[in-house]
Formats: sequence, C-alpha cells, structure tokens
Amino acid sequence: MLNPNVREFVPLGARTVTQHSTGAPFVSLLSRVTFIMPKSKTVYRCTECGAEYPRWQGRCETCGEWNTLVEEVVAPKVAVSGGSSRRIAGARSLAEGGSVAATPRLREVHGSEAKRWKTGLDEFDFVLGGGIVPGSMILIGGEPGIGKSTILLQVAARLEANGHATLYASGEESALQVKLRADRIGSGADDVSLLSETNLETVLATSGAASPAVLMVDSIQTVFTADLEGAPGNVGQVRECAARLMRYAKESGTTVFVVGHVTKGGGIAGPKTLEHIVDTVLYFEGESTLDHRLLRATKNRFGSVDEIGVFRMSQSGLEPVANPSELFMGDRASHASGSAVTALLEGTRPVLVEIQALAAKAGFGTPQRVTTGFDGRRLALLLAVLDKRAGLAFSQLDVFLNVVGGVRMQEPAGDLAVAAALASSVYDRALPVDAVFVGEVGLGGEVRPVSQVERRIAEAANMGMKRVFLAERAVPRRGARDVELVGVRTIQDLLRRLFA
Ligand code: TYD
Ligand code: MG
Repeated sequence: MLNPNVREFVPLGARTVTQHSTGAPFVSLLSRVTFIMPKSKTVYRCTECGAEYPRWQGRCETCGEWNTLVEEVVAPKVAVSGGSSRRIAGARSLAEGGSVAATPRLREVHGSEAKRWKTGLDEFDFVLGGGIVPGSMILIGGEPGIGKSTILLQVAARLEANGHATLYASGEESALQVKLRADRIGSGADDVSLLSETNLETVLATSGAASPAVLMVDSIQTVFTADLEGAPGNVGQVRECAARLMRYAKESGTTVFVVGHVTKGGGIAGPKTLEHIVDTVLYFEGESTLDHRLLRATKNRFGSVDEIGVFRMSQSGLEPVANPSELFMGDRASHASGSAVTALLEGTRPVLVEIQALAAKAGFGTPQRVTTGFDGRRLALLLAVLDKRAGLAFSQLDVFLNVVGGVRMQEPAGDLAVAAALASSVYDRALPVDAVFVGEVGLGGEVRPVSQVERRIAEAANMGMKRVFLAERAVPRRGARDVELVGVRTIQDLLRRLFA
C-alpha cells in the first residue's frame, strides 16, 4: 500500500510558489534544492470574528482580539463551468456546481438503534448509556496520569475478547511501554493491534486497511496532519485531526476513541475545542493522589449526561466500584466534630458524600477560607447566612471545607450539610453519625427543597442511615421506610434540633 506519510517533493528549479496565495507568487532563486511543501493550502482564521489571514499573527486586525488565529485547511474550490462564479442571477446560478441530493421522508428512514457493544466493565458501560455505540466518536479527557490510557487498554482487551477487533494507535508511548502496561493489567490484551504513530494520515490509512471495529487514538495532542504547518497539539491541528477522525468514524462505521489531555486550568488547545465535534465526552475526575477516579459523561448523544462511573486504581488497572457511597463514606471518623453527610445526585444516581469543616482561631490578618471540591463563593454566602441568621460569628475564624473523596459538589443540595458541618465545628460537637442532610439554604436562612428527594432518601436508607434532615416542604407524605425524616424550616430550626 502506498504510504501516505510520504510528502511531495517539488524541485524548486521548476516553478515554486509559497503556499499562501495572496500576494505575488514567490519564485525561489535557489535551484537544485528540494523543498517540502504541505499538501494543501492553509489559512489562519480568527475564532472570534472569522477573518482570514495568510499567515499567523498575534492579533486579529479585524476584531482586535489576541491569540485567536487558528490554522485551517482550505478546501479546494470546485471548478464551475460556464462563466464567472461571481455572477449571482437567481437560484440556478447559486446552485451551480452542486448536485441534487435525496430527501427521504422520516417515515421512509429505516433501521433501529444500533446494538451497543458491552465491554463488561460495568461502570464504563453505564456512563456511556449502556455500552459503546458503533460508529460513534468518544473523547476521554482528563489530567495527565489520571488513567486514560489504562482504561482504554482495558476496554480494548475486553472488546477483543468479545470479538470486536481493536486498533490502539499510541503517539505517546512505544509498543513496549504499552505492552508493559498490558502485562500489568493482565486482562488478556494480547490480541489488541498496536500502532506507534503520530501521523494522522498513516493512522487513518492503516485503520482503513485493517478495518477494526474500534480505533483508539492516544492522544489527540500527539497526532498531526501534514496538511497543516502547525505543531502537533495546537488548536488548528487538534481540530482538524478530530474532524477527520469523526468523518472516518461516520463513513466507516468504526467507533473512534480519542484521548485528550487537559491541564489543571482546564485550558490549552485541549479537548474543549473537541467537545463540539465528538458524540460523547467522558471526563476523568478525582485527585491523582487518591486511588479512586470518577468518569463523568459531560456530553452524550446516545445517553444521559452527568452520569458518573466510579473506579478504583489498583495494582492491576481500574476496577469498577459498584457502590460509590460505600467508597466515599468508608473512612469516616465517627466522633469528630465538623463532619456531615449529604446525598448528592450524580447524573441519575444518588451518592452519599461526607463534608468536613474546620473552623479554627485565625492568626494575623484576614481569616482564611480554603475549600476543596466546593465553590468558595458559596461558602462565603453560607458563612454570612450563619452569621446573620443564626448568630455564629466566623470573622475571627479560619474556615476550611473539604468534600471528601475528590468529589466536586456542584448542586446546592449540599448546603444544609455544609451549614451543619460548620456549626458542628464551631460548637466542637459531633453530629449524629447516622444523619444525612439534604437541602438548599437561602439568603434568609430558609431551607429549600431540592430535586428528586425520594431517591436521595432511599440511598440514605440503603447505606444504613437512620435520619434525614430536609426542608419541611420536601418531606414526602408517604414517609420513608427505615429512616426518620426530620423537616426543618430554617437554619436556626436545624441548629436548635441538633445542638439544643
Ligand atoms: P495512565 O493511564 O498512564 O494515565 P493517562 O493516560 O491518563 O496519562 O495512568 C497512569 C497512572 O496510573 C500511573 O501513575 C500509574 C497508575 N497505574 C496503577 O496504579 N495501576 C495500574 O495497573 C496501571 C496500569 C497504572
Ligand atoms: Mg496516557
């Protein structure tokens, strides 16, 4: 097969122009020298206003934005026969050069939802919405070292075992490194085909020839197309490579997984630009120092979003954790003050999470507010509410707040638990170990109902909790089995019941 990696060498003596068409053609005076030319013409386009430039510059002169120019390939114009293409005289000339496409009625479209491939890695299948959809493109994002390559290799091994041929293209690691990892996870990845390659044309040609059921590209930041001048990993390259992989997935029916790195800041030429292109986006979350990882679907054309899968990183790869609450509650010290439990909803699944607060006498200067897994401004708000409505003074206290287990708490349902934990730390009195707090706290100190409270209560009961504190209005009329429901109207009401 012809190696697409081979670029065209053009003898400059012949007649060579630079790749940028605007301006006079540049004719080189050097003869007998060969010169590498990119295959296609490229331009730099501003991502803000769309203005086009022949070469890169720091600032877009049209809209004045900095660092917004991204390289892209210019599609060759189709030659239009019969006169100037500028002539716009009615619909006919507008349609010149096009061809008529079929427009079936929806009832004439046949076929059912494609059967999904199960990997047998339960949490992974769950996050995808029940397995891998053939012909889809899935992005796995996350910080370096969090386990993206590991899970892909595990998925590859399982797919091979189920009879779906898999090609693993790694631009980051040598074949030997991948092999060593495979030995470590020991899940029979022997049949997975390996390709150590960074040239996208070669990856696509190889995959096209082998036609595997699944192609994995690790990572999108290391592959490049020879059609663009930019280095691998820059926005133009990442976007173009992803777009081509997507086209390949749709045309061939091959499922394509791509790995994308994000930094702590969440930025750089990273998966953010890819999210629009791909069908499904899975993000790995969690502290790399802890041994468990959350895999969250932030976009899914074939399933619900915000669904999480929980894994534990072990000696032999990532193991699904069937009961996340157990994991997050595992090391709970029962009699420490400042600890409260809430029931969060992660996607469709309720999860019990511990919140730890520590209020300690401040040293010099402004007291500190340090949070992990919780919005700092939300904490400031809750402190102000506790101060104003319940008379708990924090102005002389440093406050530390930690959502245990690397969970990021995004919904306000945890407010009540945060307030309880803060008060518990100030009074230095432990909360009942078997209590769960669910509710949003308003500026007036009122406790508000949150969504899907019955599922949260059910999870609390499942985990052996005995009492759930929640907004009075949210207490289900039917009550609940095995747990006592305590309705509270305000923060003062809550503190009176807990510490009176
Ligand atoms: P990796 O999948 O290489 O991360 P990424 O591709 O996201 O950069 O995982 C790297 C970490 O996982 C590394 O610190 C080692 C650890 N690890 C284990 O603890 N157990 C294992 O079985 C494997 C394969 C990796
Ligand atoms: Mg990796």
